This record gives sequence, structure tokens and C-alpha cells, in this order.
Amino acid sequence: MRVVDGELRAGQRIRMMGGGQVHEVMETGFFRLEQVRTDSLVAGEVGYVATGAKSVSAVQMGDTITSVEAPASDQSPDSIPFDWVLIYQMSYDNNLAWAGLPILEMLRTGLTSDRVAVAIFADLPDDGGMFRIILRSDGMEGFRIASDDSASTTTFRENLAWVGQTLPARRYALVFLDHGGRLDQILEMANRAPSAGNLQAYSILIIRHPQTKAALLQAALHQNALVQAPVVLVFIARPDVSAAKYSQRGASLYAIQDATIACAYAQLAAVELGLASVWIGAFEEETVSRILKVTGEDRPVALLPIGYPAESPEPTPRRSLADLAREAA
Ligand SMILES: Cc1cc2nc3c(=O)[nH]c(=O)nc-3n(C[C@H](O)[C@H](O)[C@H](O)COP(=O)(O)O)c2cc1C
Repeated sequence: MRVVDGELRAGQRIRMMGGGQVHEVMETGFFRLEQVRTDSLVAGEVGYVATGAKSVSAVQMGDTITSVEAPASDQSPDSIPFDWVLIYQMSYDNNLAWAGLPILEMLRTGLTSDRVAVAIFADLPDDGGMFRIILRSDGMEGFRIASDDSASTTTFRENLAWVGQTLPARRYALVFLDHGGRLDQILEMANRAPSAGNLQAYSILIIRHPQTKAALLQAALHQNALVQAPVVLVFIARPDVSAAKYSQRGASLYAIQDATIACAYAQLAAVELGLASVWIGAFEEETVSRILKVTGEDRPVALLPIGYPAESPEPTPRRSLADLAREAA
């Protein structure tokens, strides 16, 4: 802690302003990192070394120190193979199925420097297990690990230690990818929507890839939410499926309703999770079908960008209930 104003001493009553609790100060003091001089440092020990070097530029960050008499064969900088290692944590109920694969692909194709590596801790969907994945300019490797709890801090610490050993680098950056899990919950909710005859005559496409979103933008009056949101769900009615049981009424009405209700459920789930969405109905259907390779009788009926709300607009006006509904004669 740092004292900003006044004085802090034993016996004083203090309040933790965040939580509001009152405590009594038992003791105050400084932390001091002590130098304890030893005759030598041996392998495995962490310590300090004083030399006669007068300028900081004489020492490189992450330098390797070796004996003049018996020099090590591995010299710096080769002993530190990477300048940067980017660590991606795709943690608790994030998964590679939704966002991970396109991200992995972008990282893989974008990684051209052999001085940079990427380590990914990923929890694969459907009990696929947890993996440590290494991307280097010369390829990709994956290692399954025993843990099935990617929220575990122990696992996380072990993963970090493993990266330190496996990919020695001058600098590390840690990226927490927040995606996937909530989408699962939204899809679960959409999947609960009622459907005519339980035919569930619709499907949902998950759009993550920036290029696909940009193409949708063109086909939907440049409605920016399509590229601003991290994910766009496309609800596709499947008239054939409904027609098998309900003929023309199934094809022209129920399939559309099935897809529409599912989209509404997804919107409600998004709100429940603190996310926001916008229903986009204004788009060129044929163009969207072509972009998304929707074929046959299938029809995209709604695009649903989902993301974190940028604003909290006032509710739109509504009719009175008397205006909305009336008793039938
Ligand atoms: C069938 C349908 C189509 C829609 N199409 C669009 C659209 O293309 N672009 C858009 O910005 N919003 C679209 N919306 C969202 C409405 O503009 C949005 O819900 C707005 O808040 C309308 O007010 P209300 O929802 O309070 O009735 C659509 C909504 C529905 C239900």
C-alpha cells in the first residue's frame, strides 16, 4: 500500500472504502528486498551478481552470463530464441469451436517472424479437453493436458511456467480471450425456442470472420453493427423441413416462425447475459445466401449481431395495453 495523505500508525481505526469494513491497524512497516551476500551462486539459485560494469548498455535484457574460462556453447541471443511470446488464455467456457479456430488461423497465417511465438491455452468444446498449443513461424503443435478445469488458477500457473520453460523469450504478453462461453448460453436458449411440431425447421450460422462480416455489411445497407459486433448469428429458415409434415403452411409460415422465435430467444438470452443485439432484417437475401452458401429452399431470415452494449438507449414508445389487445366478441 502507498500512503497518499496523512499518517498511518498502530492502534488507528481504518475503513476499507471498497468493502466498507472497519479494522484496527496492528502494525505498519516497509518491505525491503535484502541483498544477502554469499560466496557463490549455484545452478538453480536465483540471486544477484555485482560486476565492474559501469554502464547499463553493457548488459542486454535477458543476457546470458557465461564463464570466460569455460564458456557455454549456447550464446545469447540464441539462448533466448524468441523476442516475444504471446500467451492466449481461452479460459473457462471459452472454446475453440466458436471463435478460436478463426483466431488460431489468423495467428497462424500472420506469424511470419521466427523471433515471435504464440502459446495458447484452450479448452476445446464438448469435453474435447484442454490443450496447450504452440504456434511458431515453422508450424504448430498441440499438447493435451490432464486438467479439465480451465478456470483453475493452479492450471493457469502451471501453463505459464510451462511456457517459460518451453518458449524462453525476452518478453511475454498475456491475452485473455473473452468469447465463446456466453455464445454457448445464447445458443442453448435459442435451442429452447418452440417450433412447429418440434421440427426445429431452422439452423443458425455463427459469423466471426471479419471478411464475412464485411461482406454481410455490403449486403445489408452498411449497417455497422455487423462489423462492430464480435459475432453475428444468422437465423436460417428451412422450409423443406417443415413442409415434410405441414406442406405449404409449414414451408411458407412455420419454418419462418421457427427461425424467428429462436432469434427472439437469442436476443432475450443476450440481454440476460449483459450483452446487446440488434435484429437486422433489411438485407439482400440472395446476396446473403450467396455469401454464406445457403442453398436450396433455405432462407436467411434475420441477422443478429451480438456484442457488448455501446449505449443504453431509452425504451422505445409502446401502445397502451388497451390499444394493444382487446377482448374478442
Ligand atoms: C423483423 C425486424 C426487422 C428489423 N430490421 C432491422 C434492421 O434491418 N436494422 C436495424 O437497425 N434494426 C432492425 N430491427 C430492429 C428494430 O429497429 C429495433 O428493434 C428498434 O428498436 C425498433 O423498436 P422496437 O424494437 O422497440 O419496436 C428489426 C426488428 C425486427 C423485429
